[in-house]
Amino acid sequence: MTDEPLVLGIETSCDETGVGIVRGHTLLANAIASSVDEHARFGGVVPEVASRAHLEAMVPAMQRALHEAGVALAEVDAIAVTAGPGLAGALLVGVAAAKAYALALNKPLYGVNHLAAHVAVDVLEHGALPQPCIALLVSGGHSSLLLVPDVTGDVQSLGATVDDAAGEAFDKVARVLGLPFPGGPYIDLAAVDGDPREIAFPRGKADDGTLDFSFSGLKTAVARWVEARERAGEPVPVAHVAASFQEAVVDVLTAKAVAACHAYGVDHLLIGGGVAANSRLRAVAAERCAAAGIEVRIPRPGLCTDNGAMVAALGARLVAAGRAPSHGDFPADSSMLVTEVMV
Ligand code: KG4
Ligand code: ZN
Repeated sequence: MTDEPLVLGIETSCDETGVGIVRGHTLLANAIASSVDEHARFGGVVPEVASRAHLEAMVPAMQRALHEAGVALAEVDAIAVTAGPGLAGALLVGVAAAKAYALALNKPLYGVNHLAAHVAVDVLEHGALPQPCIALLVSGGHSSLLLVPDVTGDVQSLGATVDDAAGEAFDKVARVLGLPFPGGPYIDLAAVDGDPREIAFPRGKADDGTLDFSFSGLKTAVARWVEARERAGEPVPVAHVAASFQEAVVDVLTAKAVAACHAYGVDHLLIGGGVAANSRLRAVAAERCAAAGIEVRIPRPGLCTDNGAMVAALGARLVAAGRAPSHGDFPADSSMLVTEVMV
């Protein structure tokens, strides 16, 4: 339908330069340039390196997205950009670019929340979001359970990690196992040949009655276990460690997500963020939700990790809901709260 808003989304909160274009619920383009290879040897994202890479990648990514979508800049109805949370310098590049495009084209600009965008992206895959839904948001920087009556205005935090994010735990454990950065996909792959019941790693906060998470004890337990093997001169069974660690994370995430649905009487669960690409998380969530009578929605892996389409998707929802655009002078906000959908 051509009367739906054509929205361009810009994402630069971490190491992916993303430019996405959507029309309503339809994905038209999703151009991504990643600087991950430049960070790999440091074992984590180097903020200054990421910012410079965004500067270099922005205009080419914009051109690729427009080409892929077959639209001209002048046709765009609105521009959305990740205003936060994320790396301050990296966010700044996207926000400055978005302001320049919006000003030059005289288009409304929406500074949006990266986390809400991880939720909104699912409309591109599965259509309008059920209202309300519970969202399990698991990325490299965040792990949260949210009650989302309406992603354009209303997000309530029900629980979050008290220490490491789930993705951060994947990345740190991968490092201990000598796997490349970012570790999530490599652990996912290594775990295929391992037994998830081989090693009983701790499930932090599993039975504490809250909807909070803790992964730092698990990370330490894995490191101690591996160190003990190495000290004893025994080989480290990487596949078993990866599978057992992954199982501990997935077990707690899915158990608490189902508990949140029960506690709030909500029968729709949405899972988003980079860790939602994890094959075991997707399988266990499907199993447990089916058993609990909960409908689970998870975007395809390529839309779970950071991209511009998710920002455009949230922008399109905000435009469709009649939300006023952000003021032109809004800052990048590295610690933007999850409950704040836009600035
Ligand atoms: O959402 P995202 O792309 O960036 C942030 O907003 O942080 O998430 C990145 C995180 C990284 O920690 C990465 O290791 C993790 O998502 N990740 C995975 C998988 N793919 C990416 N974790 C587990 N299994 C995966 N297949
Ligand atoms: Zn993200």
